[in-house]
Amino acid sequence: MSDRPRVLVTRIIPDEGLDPVRDGCEVDLWTDDLPPPRDELLRRVAGVDGLLSLLTDRVDDELLDAAGPQLKVVSNFAVGFDNIDVPAVTRRGVPAGNTPGVLTETTADLAFALLMAAARRIPEGVGYVRDGRWKTWGPMLLMGVDIHGATLGIVGFGRIGRELARRGRGFGMEIVYHDVHPASAEDEARLGARRVEMDELLRTADFISLHVNLTDETRHLIDADALRSMKPTAVLVNTSRGPVIDPSALEQALRDGEIFAAGLDVTEPEPLPADHPLVALPNCIVVPHIASATSVTRGKMAAMAAANLLAGLRGERLPTPVNPEVYD
Ligand code: DGY
Repeated sequence: MSDRPRVLVTRIIPDEGLDPVRDGCEVDLWTDDLPPPRDELLRRVAGVDGLLSLLTDRVDDELLDAAGPQLKVVSNFAVGFDNIDVPAVTRRGVPAGNTPGVLTETTADLAFALLMAAARRIPEGVGYVRDGRWKTWGPMLLMGVDIHGATLGIVGFGRIGRELARRGRGFGMEIVYHDVHPASAEDEARLGARRVEMDELLRTADFISLHVNLTDETRHLIDADALRSMKPTAVLVNTSRGPVIDPSALEQALRDGEIFAAGLDVTEPEPLPADHPLVALPNCIVVPHIASATSVTRGKMAAMAAANLLAGLRGERLPTPVNPEVYD
């Protein structure tokens, strides 16, 4: 039997991550396109020294018990880690890692792409041409809302929110943000951003983009009341986590014209079934959680996830732990 550490990798990830893990470990790699079913995950995790998980794998007491006390590290292939019960891993003295930083710009790019596509009705325009409905230039055809000169409201002013601010500035937008932790005066000046209360942001922004972690406080942060207080011309963008928006309230608001449009990279539930009412709405663009999906960025995320996994297996501090308190 090999003395190399045993690890479970729950999906095929780019070679930048798989190669170093394969070089150093006995790897059980789940090769299906779909995540391992829960019972399979619990079976395969038993006895491993390390787990390289995805945001689709719930890492909780049940899984950690199934893994066993030899588990040294959990490395999540994502910056978000709401799939990990952090107190549960910490209680067991297991460090968990994520992949911050490397996907910031790529995610901000997609948030801005959704903002533009929803504002200028690009998917509707593409469908119009494909359906053979384009007969002439139309003075009233597919009118959208202006991006330049508009106010961009950013909810959650961390790394990705700030990158979105830079993109908005490039388009001549006015930037307001809401975050429980105000940015420094220097950062506000550099990014040309002004902190406002949440209700002011909802009332005054033309574009609202969500960049908060999913927590008990942010679950359904955008509910019926929040949507009602937005402008009827507002465009809502979500690249954070689906449950930050109440999907039934959003459907109603889009149907009733309480807001102009929405662009969603993340949804509740996820995946969103093709027959979900939000999918059929012309003023709602839904893409399948692809904000970080460029080859370069996914390669960097894979390398980072591998680095966290291998550090944990060696008993070293993870480069990017989500539970640094585990080292106290
Ligand atoms: C993350 O990393 O949390 C994204 O949602 C997927 O890249």
